[in-house]
Amino acid sequence: MNREVDFLIIGSGIAGLSYALKVAEHGKVSMITKASEDESNTKYAQGGIAAVMYSPDSIEKHVNDTLIAGDGICDEEVVRMVISESAERINELICWGAKFDKTETGEYDLAKEGGHSEHRILHHKDNTGFEIERALLAAVHKHSNIEILDHHFAIDILTQHHLGIEVNSRTPDIECYGAYVLDLRTNTIEKILARTILMATGGAGQVYSATTNPVIATGDGVAMVYRAKGRVEGMEFYQFHPTALYNPGESPSFLISEAVRGFGGILKTIDGKEFMQKYDPRKSLAPRDIVARAIDNEMKTRGDDYVYLDCRHLDKQELVKHFPNIYQKCLSLGLDMKTDFIPVLPAAHYMCGGIKVDKQGRSSIKNLYAIGECSSTGLHGANRLASNSLLEAVVYAHHAAIDSIAQFKKVEYCPNIPDWNAEGTHYPEEMVLLIQSLREVQAIMTNYVGIVRSDIRLQRAFDRLEILYKENEELYLKTTISPKLCELRNMINVAYIIIKHARQRKESRGLHYTVNYPRN
Ligand code: FAD
Ligand code: SIN
Repeated sequence: MNREVDFLIIGSGIAGLSYALKVAEHGKVSMITKASEDESNTKYAQGGIAAVMYSPDSIEKHVNDTLIAGDGICDEEVVRMVISESAERINELICWGAKFDKTETGEYDLAKEGGHSEHRILHHKDNTGFEIERALLAAVHKHSNIEILDHHFAIDILTQHHLGIEVNSRTPDIECYGAYVLDLRTNTIEKILARTILMATGGAGQVYSATTNPVIATGDGVAMVYRAKGRVEGMEFYQFHPTALYNPGESPSFLISEAVRGFGGILKTIDGKEFMQKYDPRKSLAPRDIVARAIDNEMKTRGDDYVYLDCRHLDKQELVKHFPNIYQKCLSLGLDMKTDFIPVLPAAHYMCGGIKVDKQGRSSIKNLYAIGECSSTGLHGANRLASNSLLEAVVYAHHAAIDSIAQFKKVEYCPNIPDWNAEGTHYPEEMVLLIQSLREVQAIMTNYVGIVRSDIRLQRAFDRLEILYKENEELYLKTTISPKLCELRNMINVAYIIIKHARQRKESRGLHYTVNYPRN
């Protein structure tokens, strides 16, 4: 079945849902999402959402912390815009039904995380994302103008290319008309035409072997826009969270929130010695790039598989009260945070770069907006400050909604886009081809394009990936479309962009650290 809607939203995390709630008063909204409606990075967010709520905190302090973490390449105007609007957007989340923890005196219980000079993280215990996703979905369900099409997979966005017109990155006015979407229940591919399209597809942690991201995080949005010749930037800045739980065989990796270190948890080597003082005066609460690199270095020089997070000195009752899910998870593995060290190591966590957008969330392709983790707004620069991403998503949902409401009625549906043509393709005979290629992408990215890089590693990664790219494009043309095939294609595209951008950056900055261009 083909459709025509005013607003097509791809992705049902915090970015897609909050935008939907804002535009739905003005037109018909279809939100497609490739798994169940709540499956997203958002659902797993632990620490919380950063905002300036009370003194002694101030906009200036939060701006400054964000700029320091971003290592000199944040867009300061964007940083100011996002942080100045933080309290307003938090109040909106609360009006939509999200609950954040309060102290006994009735103020919000603000936590602290790495790189923050003040306590400013609103949270719901240690499962803030789950609470936000729950509240937003409940609000969306009440809205008669929004339909959620779960288990619908966006394959590609529609542009002039689908009208037979050649498009390249220098084409001045590439336009987006909608998307080809695979309905996973009926196994049919429909064409959804829209006046405005929002990309809200989240991150791409799955391109690495060890990641905190769920299986949906395969970089589909970035890959679709890149293939459509839209602008993508800053992909060399892939953030590794310093403290994923060391539990071999578990994928995705379970996160031990940075808020645990904000609460007083201390990193130690496995002989029980503190080490962060060697790397940064802020010790265990330095920005993430510094902590992840320090852990990586300790593990490599000592030959250890993990380091420890020590919480044994903390108030035991408060520890369990603040981090009930993390506590239970550790307990399920026989580790009691009150009395045992917790083994941790870095894992791929957040894509700081993405689809280049302006302050309204407009991409370089007409009628196509991008917000949330798949976008690059300029807020994070070379390294995202903890808990700034949920905030960025709601602020940009607001800006993109205002702009698209003002524009969408001027846009005509494009009538001439052909239906999907599956002629000449057949079902894959050997799934092993896909599975093995995926493992290879993840191994290449982990071994050569991880926390520490070098020219030779990047060259090797590029050469290996080129082989996988050619093999997969050939397979793609001959094979009936499936999510696994599309995701592999997307991950190869995203890995290629990360490597390409990493090779172009001839310096060490923020999350991009290369032994060939050390910092002075
Ligand atoms: P997501 O929430 O990831 O949603 C993406 C959506 O797009 C999903 O619904 C997905 O199914 C859908 N999708 C993707 N591709 C397709 C396709 N081809 N077709 C159809 N649908 C598609 N940030 C903070 O600020 N604070 C935190 O405390 C915090 N903790 C985190 C903890 C963990 C374990 C993780 C993984 C991340 C954490 N982050 C945190 C980061 C933050 O959760 C994400 O950056 C944010 O939730 C991204 O929201 P989003 O809406 O952009 O994308
Ligand atoms: C965490 O809780 O440590 C995650 C916070 C984030 O990624 O912003």
